[in-house]
Amino acid sequence: MLYIGIDLGTSAVKLLMMDEKGKIRNIVSREYPISFPKPGWSEQNPQDWYSACLDGLKELTALRGEEKIGGISFGGQMHGLVILDEADEVIRPAILWNDGRTGEETEYLNQVIGKDRLSQYTANIAFAGFTAPKLLWVKKHEPEKFKRIRKIMLPKDYIAYRLTGAHTTDPSDASGMLLFDVKHRCWSDEMLKICGIQREQMPKVVESYEIIGTLKPEVSEYLEISYPIKVAAGAGDNAAAAVGTGTVGEGKCNISLGTSGTIFISSDRFQVDSHNALHAFAHADGHYHLMGCMLSAASCNKWWMDGILQTGEYQKEQEKIQKLGDNQVYFLPYLMGERSPHNDPAARGTFIGMTMDTTREDMTQAVLEGVAFALRDSLEVARSLGITVTSSKICGGGAKSALWKTMIANILNLRLDVVACEEGPSYGGAILAAVGCGEYRSVEEASEAIVRVVDTVEPDAELVRKYEENYQKFRQIYPKLKDLFPILGE
Ligand code: XUL
Repeated sequence: MLYIGIDLGTSAVKLLMMDEKGKIRNIVSREYPISFPKPGWSEQNPQDWYSACLDGLKELTALRGEEKIGGISFGGQMHGLVILDEADEVIRPAILWNDGRTGEETEYLNQVIGKDRLSQYTANIAFAGFTAPKLLWVKKHEPEKFKRIRKIMLPKDYIAYRLTGAHTTDPSDASGMLLFDVKHRCWSDEMLKICGIQREQMPKVVESYEIIGTLKPEVSEYLEISYPIKVAAGAGDNAAAAVGTGTVGEGKCNISLGTSGTIFISSDRFQVDSHNALHAFAHADGHYHLMGCMLSAASCNKWWMDGILQTGEYQKEQEKIQKLGDNQVYFLPYLMGERSPHNDPAARGTFIGMTMDTTREDMTQAVLEGVAFALRDSLEVARSLGITVTSSKICGGGAKSALWKTMIANILNLRLDVVACEEGPSYGGAILAAVGCGEYRSVEEASEAIVRVVDTVEPDAELVRKYEENYQKFRQIYPKLKDLFPILGE
């Protein structure tokens, strides 16, 4: 039996087909545009996502041979606001997870409603990318559009809706809306009221591995498949990636180096970060996790390579980097503002420490190191809560770089376990589909049976020492520049 995982990412959708043992058969992808209508804003057209998914599904399912496809599920970019009207038409472009326009609404929620109440209702405070502040933004700036809203959904849920007709979401993705009572895995009536939302507008919440329906007849027909294919709810991309890397159960860690950078710590029990710097979200296995999310990770490297150096030769640029731990140049990776731990949409990317002998390699190195230092900021919050993390899985596009993995292992002082399949969210999505179809009894059982570690990157004591000194310098830069950022864009 075959299972498909759809990773609805920010730059592209990846679709992965595996067999019931987790052996990957094929992966296809389709890119779509992203628009930045103003500095710090980011939007995509949900129809582009759907067309790309359908096109990718057509290519992928044509490769199935004689085997049957059992189910499909998802890992999707989180927090994005998709709103539909009475006629099921998308009302406006989706406002994405890394959009920072909601500074005022976030401030209102955190200061006027208050962090304590928010934390009590949802286990989290407001961050600019979360969905509730976006709803408040639409209510204020586009009131006519707000009035037309009949259905509210997250990006992957829009795809699920188009494929099956079911208006659902799952607890891991719902957690990022700030409308969800994470502990009790249900909508928070208080938060819906604060945002002026009715329960009927919200999707039904089902666990990530539960079946929400089957492909609509017209979709099956388009794919030339004559039997019903089940669809499971899926998860936010980080929870799906955690499933795809075996980060399930108590105290496991996964680092994802995609457009965003996340550090994800799974837990069997519900817990809240008392500093509110890490997100306290539900996991796709029925349990919970804590997560730090930086808004620009592999995207900093892409920006630096493609946009500034104008080269596609990532590997060649990185080969020239020799002096790990000795770089005097630092980079703050806040190209889209920052979420964890600073919660500051006004923060901006910064190079600091250059001299007349600074080279191109030093700056490339600073970009890679800056992302690793910023991930360490979130890990430090977890450590301050008494959580011990000594090893982590790693996935995402950035994890393909051996140099970057070495930097991360040494800057975070963690052993990195590299898994056979680095396609976290799509692999996790396919695993969720397999669980939903009864191939495994639980997400934990499935990911234990399927996920394999094929390599490890051990930290080196001398490099850890050097990077510790550098990290202590890095962490002083943002607080000193913080007050300057808001006036730079004026
Ligand atoms: C997590 C987050 C990002 C997106 C990226 O909170 O905002 O990781 O899910 O797709």
